[in-house]
Amino acid sequence: MFRNEFPILSSKVHGHNLVYFDNAATTQTPKTVVDSITNFYYHTNSNVHRGAHFLSQRATNEFEKARKVIANHFQAEFNQCIFTRGTTHGINLLVKGIEEYIEVHDEIVVACYEHHSNFIAFQELAKRKGAILRIIPLTQHNEFDYKAFEELISYKTRVVSLPLISNVLGEKLDVKKINQITQFYGVEFVFFDAAQIVGHNEINFNELKCSAITFSAHKCYGPTGIGAIIATHKLIKKLKPQELGGGMIEKVEFEHTSYKEDFSKLEAGTPDICGAIAFSRAIEFIEGVGIKQIKKHEEDLIDYFLQKATLVEGLNIYGTLNSYKRAGVFSMTYKDYSCYDIATLLDMKGIAIREGAHCAQPLLDILEVPSTFRVSFALYNTKEEIDYFFESLKEVSSLLYK
Ligand code: ALA
Repeated sequence: MFRNEFPILSSKVHGHNLVYFDNAATTQTPKTVVDSITNFYYHTNSNVHRGAHFLSQRATNEFEKARKVIANHFQAEFNQCIFTRGTTHGINLLVKGIEEYIEVHDEIVVACYEHHSNFIAFQELAKRKGAILRIIPLTQHNEFDYKAFEELISYKTRVVSLPLISNVLGEKLDVKKINQITQFYGVEFVFFDAAQIVGHNEINFNELKCSAITFSAHKCYGPTGIGAIIATHKLIKKLKPQELGGGMIEKVEFEHTSYKEDFSKLEAGTPDICGAIAFSRAIEFIEGVGIKQIKKHEEDLIDYFLQKATLVEGLNIYGTLNSYKRAGVFSMTYKDYSCYDIATLLDMKGIAIREGAHCAQPLLDILEVPSTFRVSFALYNTKEEIDYFFESLKEVSSLLYK
């Protein structure tokens, strides 16, 4: 779908057509996003919220319009959208922003398959505050264990933070089940890492019934270095600013400084203006294609991939094989071949995949493998590319056969 919109997809890699299957790491950018970056520096470049001059006002208008476009995509209001440098930055802002409300023996619950960014910040928070970090295990089929989750949550649980889609197992979280439990116990801070879902599935922020979601532009057809938090008004009011400087102050005196109360208290310094505008173009691109259409296309790819994968003897896909429960992210091992060798040899055939621990080392310890190789889809991938992947996998594995 829409392949012509992505100039990089016509590249040749080692003499082959590029097959880009590393979308969980970074998606490619359509022309409209690339053009918006050039146009910004040709026609708009200036600082925001600071100047009375024409360019500054133009930059401010476009920057604030971008905030509206992004917030609107999640059915949120513009002042619920906080620009960040990406998901990791967003999670760190949230964790530090709630730190003063966390007390000794409070409990913080995360999943064992968290991306490091949704794990380390909470691990350190728990250490600093004397809180208890509880980790939700997997079922014996390497799926999220809802029963264990229910048993881990109690009135002592202060924070729950989970990924809406695992970047390794590809499993989609059943948010309704999570909410039933967190709401029953009145968990104050519920965060969802939305990095792998934006641009793939529809998200209505209000239906998630959480305190905040975090995500990155570069995983949904936008540029690197920019992301956003969408948060409830209640949470924004509570969050303590962590980065201090221009743009977020109310009044500065030698003895004392007061800060703005709204989202801008979390955006110190000159923001990534160009990135925010380009991010909104990516969201407009997604909306132009239609998120339902993208979801349907990716679901077809998921079914097709699973169908072909089950025919390959010795190929092990981690996580659920139920296509209804998973996204287009497949982490695999193949017999006892080195994942690094597989990824390198597939690269020689023009196929880009990721290999390694995928920023989830504790999970790989549970799976008892040092690494996996991962295929992940975006709207421009095709069934022909999947066919080529499996043909190439067969071919390269014959080179590895011991
Ligand atoms: N979080 C990114 C990934 O899973 C980098 O590849």
